[in-house]
Amino acid sequence: MAIGFRQEGRIFTLDTKHTSYRMKVDEYGFLLHLYYGGRVYGNMDYLLTCYDRGFSGNPWDVGNDRTYSLDVLPQEYPVMGVGDFRNSALIVRNADGSDCCDLRYIGHEIKQGKYGLPGLPAVYADAGEAETLEITLGDKVSGMCVTLLYGVLEEADIITRSVVLENRGVNNVTVEKAASACLDFVTGSFDMLSFYGRHTMERNLQREELRHGTYAIGSRRGTSSHQYNPAVILADRNTTEDAGGCYGMVFVYSGNFLFEAERDQYDQTRLLMGMQSDLFHYPLEQGEKLVVPETILCYSDQGLGALSARFHDCIREHLCRGKFRDAPRPVLLNSWEAAYFTFDGQTLLKLAKSTAALGIDMIVMDDGWFGKREDDNSGLGDWQVNEKKLGCTLRELIEQINGEGVKFGIWIEPEMVSEDSELYRQHPDWALRIPGREPVRGRNQLVLDFSRADVRDYIFEQICSILDQGKIEYVKWDMNRSIADVFSGETEQGKVTYQYVLGVYDFLERLLQKYPDILLEGCSGGGGRFDAGMLYYTPQIWCSDNTDALDRLRIQYGTSFFYPASAVGSHVSAVPNHQTGRSVSLHTRGVVAMAGAFGYELDPEKLTAEEREAVREQIRQYRSREELIRRGRYYRLSDPFTAAYTAWMFVSKDGSRALLSVVMLEMHGNMTVSYVKLKGLDAASVYRDTESGRRYYGADLMEAGLPMPVELKAYPAYQIELIRE
Ligand code: GLA
Repeated sequence: MAIGFRQEGRIFTLDTKHTSYRMKVDEYGFLLHLYYGGRVYGNMDYLLTCYDRGFSGNPWDVGNDRTYSLDVLPQEYPVMGVGDFRNSALIVRNADGSDCCDLRYIGHEIKQGKYGLPGLPAVYADAGEAETLEITLGDKVSGMCVTLLYGVLEEADIITRSVVLENRGVNNVTVEKAASACLDFVTGSFDMLSFYGRHTMERNLQREELRHGTYAIGSRRGTSSHQYNPAVILADRNTTEDAGGCYGMVFVYSGNFLFEAERDQYDQTRLLMGMQSDLFHYPLEQGEKLVVPETILCYSDQGLGALSARFHDCIREHLCRGKFRDAPRPVLLNSWEAAYFTFDGQTLLKLAKSTAALGIDMIVMDDGWFGKREDDNSGLGDWQVNEKKLGCTLRELIEQINGEGVKFGIWIEPEMVSEDSELYRQHPDWALRIPGREPVRGRNQLVLDFSRADVRDYIFEQICSILDQGKIEYVKWDMNRSIADVFSGETEQGKVTYQYVLGVYDFLERLLQKYPDILLEGCSGGGGRFDAGMLYYTPQIWCSDNTDALDRLRIQYGTSFFYPASAVGSHVSAVPNHQTGRSVSLHTRGVVAMAGAFGYELDPEKLTAEEREAVREQIRQYRSREELIRRGRYYRLSDPFTAAYTAWMFVSKDGSRALLSVVMLEMHGNMTVSYVKLKGLDAASVYRDTESGRRYYGADLMEAGLPMPVELKAYPAYQIELIRE
């Protein structure tokens, strides 16, 4: 039993293989948090302490007991207005204008299986793999009913949390803030690890001591965005990659979010993950519900590496869905950096021919194939094939490409409209705009109001009529701006940011249902919507518009803390690199791109004969290692922000096969030798380097490391495959 309820003391016990979570309903009906961390056996209510704390108020019903204060006690779902002055998980504005909601325990239910969330992505599991706990809390005065949902995946060491808010009162209320998870710690001093970034430089790791006050990150951009990823780690101050305690929180949502970490006046810590409170005032009429998106929680007492591995498994096996959850991904060549907007059918056919000769599986026709779209100033919304530009119909083009033995994929950006488009001329009111004001432009385009079903239906039909024109086996779903003008002509204001994201999910779900064999790849100016919510619909996401191999090392390193390699779209592009101007060898570019769903983003015609041969070899190698990369355990061996080299490894789950990748970052005269220490091998087994034939004990490579060659080359890279004998 992963979930239990001990009647005496009214204790909830949530246990996974290596972790435990405890809560208690106290004598006043408040739901107190007791513990989350490594596996324990007791109730853990002995951790609660009560002292008279000046200026920390006491609930009315505790009478003269000044030692009972919600301002100090650890709570499961803290609310504004009841004497807890720390950050709140929930703020409800009542009909009388007050901000208060006094939540007390009503009841609970324990169920087999993992709960799902209507219209929202959520972790799923087979019936025997998970249990669900639903705890109902209510506010007598307003009638607000709050159901806390807990999913426990015992073997996976994962606990998920979500919340359903329901107005069961007679007056309307407005939800001003709603988190799905709160974690209170009565003790500990921690570091906060978060992942900041910008377009073409996503997910840089920042590790800082959590000090008194609130550390907050989030998004008001309408998407999870490049700026901060909706996933964080709280680690003991001395936690490393391989040792120490750490907690991860991953928000399964692709829109505005807010994460807060507060160290309070008593050196206690509170973490909150949930909806962004700005641009959000969610009116709830009588009987109406709001589902707060899920947060995935995980704890590891074996450092950051083990934490990442658990998130990778959870996301890959319990969040990604469909045929391509488990199927090998095609090696694709994307036309974007090869041709940008300047192509016709012949260009694509030529690309397909050279692609076929290299052994690449698929060609993806990126932006520029529809409406009037010679640059990024027009055409979005007009999802009609520009046959004049292609010189043929889409069906003919696909047939010709297929005739070369190459599959076909296509780029779309369904959420957008250009002012210079037929769609906008006909339906200017379909764009998100604030009446009486000029809109904010981003990449010279506006955002369609995807909170509206009629808008989505229209675009859905247009997109389907494209996908029905031939054998399209892959779709890249892009989203190329932040949302500024939050106002809908139809959706109630205050609900728009949330309903927009639900609209995107609804569209994606319909697409998946209708075309289960199409591989969807998410994208938002590269990795601007690289989040667990999207991975429920698109098993891979274009990791960054930056294809520079050295920058990618850092971007992929940051991405690896939560997201599995199977989710990371990563391509070899031409040099000098289009984003940085840097030139790195084809070999190094290949090694870096092999840390994800592999492909190319260049014109093969521009390669030399020698390079073409090298590409063929890269593809051959990738294919032989694809499963190891997609499903193996991933190990970070160094920190690219500080080390002289970046190294990582994939090890098959049974330990029989491993792939070590190393890129040297520093070059100096008379170079010192770098010894890379491996991880995850069987210590007592012998492994053979498949290329050199040399044999090593696993322990030797893990304890003493492997010396890397010293070569007179810029950023040389090494890939060593090891097979257990
Ligand atoms: C975004 C994507 C690119 C490319 C362009 C097309 O920037 O991230 O990969 O598809 O749009 O306009």
